[in-house]
Order: sequence, then C-alpha cells, then structure tokens
Amino acid sequence: MAPRKSLQKIPRTAWFTDARFGMFIHWGLYAMSARHEWIRHHERIKDEDYEKYFALFDPDLFDPKAWAAAAKAAGMKYVVFTTKHHEGFCLWDSKFTDYKATNTPAKRDFVKEIVAAFRAEGLRIGFYYSLIDWHHPDFVIDRLSPYRDSPDKAKMNKGRDMRRYAKYMRDQVTELLTNYGKIDVLWFDFSYPGEDGKGRDDWESEKMLKLVRKLQPDILLDNRLDLPGSGDIVTPEQFTPSKPILDDQGNPAVWEGCQTLSGSWGYHRDEASWKSPRMCVEMLVNHVSRGGNLLMKVGPTSRGHLDARALKCLDGYAQWMRFNGRAIYGCGIAPFAEAENCRYTYNPKTNRLYVHVLSWPFRDLHLPGLAGKIRYAQLLHDGSEVRVTEKAESCGMKATPEGFVTLQLPVVQPDTLIPVVEIILK
Ligand code: GLC
Repeated sequence: MAPRKSLQKIPRTAWFTDARFGMFIHWGLYAMSARHEWIRHHERIKDEDYEKYFALFDPDLFDPKAWAAAAKAAGMKYVVFTTKHHEGFCLWDSKFTDYKATNTPAKRDFVKEIVAAFRAEGLRIGFYYSLIDWHHPDFVIDRLSPYRDSPDKAKMNKGRDMRRYAKYMRDQVTELLTNYGKIDVLWFDFSYPGEDGKGRDDWESEKMLKLVRKLQPDILLDNRLDLPGSGDIVTPEQFTPSKPILDDQGNPAVWEGCQTLSGSWGYHRDEASWKSPRMCVEMLVNHVSRGGNLLMKVGPTSRGHLDARALKCLDGYAQWMRFNGRAIYGCGIAPFAEAENCRYTYNPKTNRLYVHVLSWPFRDLHLPGLAGKIRYAQLLHDGSEVRVTEKAESCGMKATPEGFVTLQLPVVQPDTLIPVVEIILK
C-alpha cells in the first residue's frame, strides 16, 4: 500500500479529533443476564440455553432520548453503539436473520430509535458491528466459541461455511449503511488470527472494506478488520497510552481509547469496580493530552435505562465539562514538557495551553520551558486570574527554578474534579 498522509491531517477526520469524547453503548440480550456480554463464552452457554433471553427481551423503560440527553450533558459529541455484539443478536430489523429485536416481545427497531434520538441532540452516529457471531449457523466454531471444548465440535462444524457468513455480514452492513442515513463511524470487533482464530480471510476484509468505502465514503473505520492500512482509527482498549500512537505508516495516528465505567461492557449488576467520577474525568484528560479520543462505555440495563452508578459518572463529566470543555474540544498534545503532577492539553487554533492539575500543590506551581511565553493565565472553571511570575520567592529564597515560570494558585483547591489553568500564550 502506498504511504499515505497522517490521517490526523485530512479533512475527513477533523470532526473526530475535535470532538474528543464519545459514548460507547453496549446493549443486547446479555443485559438480561447482567453478568458480562461474554457470558456465552465464559459459561459455555449453548444456543438452547440462551434462548430464554431472546424469548423474553422486553425493555419497557427503553428511552433513547434519555441516553442521548445524558451523553450530550456529559459533553460527548458522538455515540457508537452495538448493532450486534458477539452473541449475534441484532438490534435492528435485518432482512437477513430472524435473530433480531423485532422478533422479541420488544418488537422494535432499536437502531432506528437510537439513531433518531442521538441525531436530535446533535451527536454524530457510530455503529459497532461484531465480526464474531456465536449464533450464526455458518460461523465456524473456534477457540472463542461457547462450544470450543465440546466433544461434538468437529461434527458441529460440518457444513458451516465462512464464505456464506462473510456474505451475511456484507448484507447486514449494507443495510446498516443504507437505511439509517449518514453514519459517521463504523466499529468492527474484532480479529484474532492464528490457530483456531479468525482474521481477514474469514471476514473477507478486503471486500468488506470496499463495500464500506463505497456506501459511506466519509465514514471513519476502526482498525480491527485485520487488514493493515484499512483503519482510520487506532483503538487501544482499557488502557491509556502514555505516548502518542503511530499508525501503520509511522505517522501520528488518529486514535480512540475505549474504556469502561466498571470493567465489563454490557450491564453487569454485581461488578464492584466502578470508577469514581474524578477518575473518569482524569481518563478523559489523559487521552486528550496524548492526542487521542475517549470512547466511554455505558451498558444500559435489560429494562433499557442507565442505572444510577452510570448516571453518577456521567453527571461527573457533565459538571466538569460544562466549565472545562474548552480544554478538551479541538485540543491535543501540547508542544511543552509537562509540569510535575500535571497533564497538558493544547488547542493549536487558539494557541491556548491547558494545565490540568492532578494533584493540587501548595500555592506555587512551577512550569518548565514557558518563561517569557505567557500572556495571561486564569482558572478555567471560573475565569479568575492566576498570577504568573518568574521570580517567586519566600523569605529571601528563590522559589522559581531556573527556566521555569511560577503560577500562584489559591491555597485551597477549587471545588471542581480536576482544576484547569488556561494559559493564553503570546
Ligand atoms: C472487546 C470485547 C467486547 C467489547 C469490545 C469493545 O473486544 O470483545 O466485549 O465490545 O472489546 O472494545
């Protein structure tokens, strides 16, 4: 493949790198089990034993307008949601399967309603589509399947045909990219090549890529098709890179870390690993300071609402973003070394630097490399001036280290999850 320009520099990705923050929604039959979206794998659940969820799926409190309003208030600018997860259940009225929401007691095309609700709030739309499918009769049983250890595995695999499955995926993707208007992101999940796994030849990734580009030329595609050079977005999962990420060609990548509020992706009743609102905000800051986006997951319950724990985290974002969104949107890596206990984000258009103070110091915050470069500084949440000096001293002792600038902060940390100093550079 010919070398290409950094995707960070092309117009198609500009909205995405400006937006920086999206909502990832994982929702399907597994929400009923409330013990992980991978339960079919973890518990080796057979088709017939999983059937009860399909027979009873009826989210009576489903209200995508409430999801969209919560995302908007949290400062999120786009949504990516599971049209189909690994269990194979489809949230839309697909012509190519009976295993779909319109055949459950719910009898609704959820994709249609979710798209409409998020668009109405002005958010961009992304579809997650699982490449893995533990329900489809042509999907060859492999090392991830619920039947992986079954003595009947070989027998069950007889007659299964991944060619037909790949065609099924193209048919479904055609529906998704034709019937719901402009789709901004497509998130395939995922490849695991190697022994008893699956990759580009199984998915027929080249054909899929051509189809996607033809149907929605401006769409942004993730990088999980196992086809080097095919992805627009690099997608680290449940970790935050400490350095900028490079793409296949060695250019600064467009990347998006996907993270969870509590560990699993689907609704999990008993998980005790919920992150605090402060930690959630810190994760957003960390991603943007390293030039990435954050796609934060919520897993609505089987009744269709966001539970109190998720709402608490979203509310933390809402409180913080209302005043500090300027330090996130349009921002990325700063061209300065960071001060101790701080993360920087920087907006190249406005030439403003944002110092996110992770651990509140006693009055003086010393910044390296900024001597002579600061025009004005203020706390972002309330626009109050922060005095800047290159000559802080105490009892005749020089406090500002050589080559540093000192911000004189209030002694008490302002009441915001992470205080931000906005620096207007000369
Ligand atoms: C993983 C998991 C999955 C989740 C996804 C999100 O690959 O298979 O459950 O949907 O990550 O990134």
